[in-house]
Amino acid sequence: MYYVDGRWVEAAEAYIHPEDRGYQFGDGIYEVFRIYQGKIYQWEAHYTRLARSAKELQIAFPWTSSELQSIAEQLLDKNSITETDDAILYMQVTRGTAPRQHEFPEGLRPILSAFARKKERPRAEMQNGIAAALIPDIRWLRCDIKSLNLLGAAMAKQQAKQQGAFEAILHRDGTVTEGSSSNLFVVKDNVLYTHPANHLILHGITRQIVIALAGTLSLEVREETFDAEFLKQADELFFTGTTVEVMPVVSLDGKPVGSGQVGEVVRKLQEAFEGTIG
Ligand code: PDD
Repeated sequence: MYYVDGRWVEAAEAYIHPEDRGYQFGDGIYEVFRIYQGKIYQWEAHYTRLARSAKELQIAFPWTSSELQSIAEQLLDKNSITETDDAILYMQVTRGTAPRQHEFPEGLRPILSAFARKKERPRAEMQNGIAAALIPDIRWLRCDIKSLNLLGAAMAKQQAKQQGAFEAILHRDGTVTEGSSSNLFVVKDNVLYTHPANHLILHGITRQIVIALAGTLSLEVREETFDAEFLKQADELFFTGTTVEVMPVVSLDGKPVGSGQVGEVVRKLQEAFEGTIG
């Protein structure tokens, strides 16, 4: 069952208007939630970010946290996602439907849609590590907003895939920003480096959790920019995100990262992250 603009519908009836601004302009926002053992992980942090994305784009956002949470819980229920299941829940809000023109009329009614489906955790990848490819970051300059405008990210991920990699590491003129759908950390001499949470990256919820966990493990974290050369000299590299969790990168553009094996620091962080689930 899907939730579309106030109705519960099967896939075959899940229609959206062709002049929904989400279609025509990518004019909307979204969140992806992880469900561990039937429970929504970090609800409030995702809700807060969704509301902030709406505010930054002047999209009306009439829903309280508990109203949206109730829809999310019903989605799990209607899709038979129970305490034995891991799953993904997706929610998006578009600005609404209007005759096509770039500027938007006042008073549009925002359109909420959502779905949930069972999805296993990426256990093998987290265990063995994955390959990444360095790709230019061609996205717009408000990557802090979780908007539906994902073409830059989708093309980067596709290019990474065509190069045999699992995820892209994006760079702007040599400055490394993040993954196409994840944040990135470098480990060098036991210090963690990650791009500052400004307009050039998504302020990842998993990123924030990992920064806090690093503190409890007495690992220093520097939220600083770094370049592709520094990246290539990393001892360890890893992505963070709702879908990738804490994901080690063992090769970059076909060359081994550090020893080419999953490193000790990322293992410790994976273990600590596990402790935040359920
Ligand atoms: N993406 N950076 C980008 C560009 C992202 O799209 C995401 C998440 C993240 C990680 O954020 P978080 O830890 O809050 O999930 C970082 C989601 C999962 C997606 O688009 O599928």
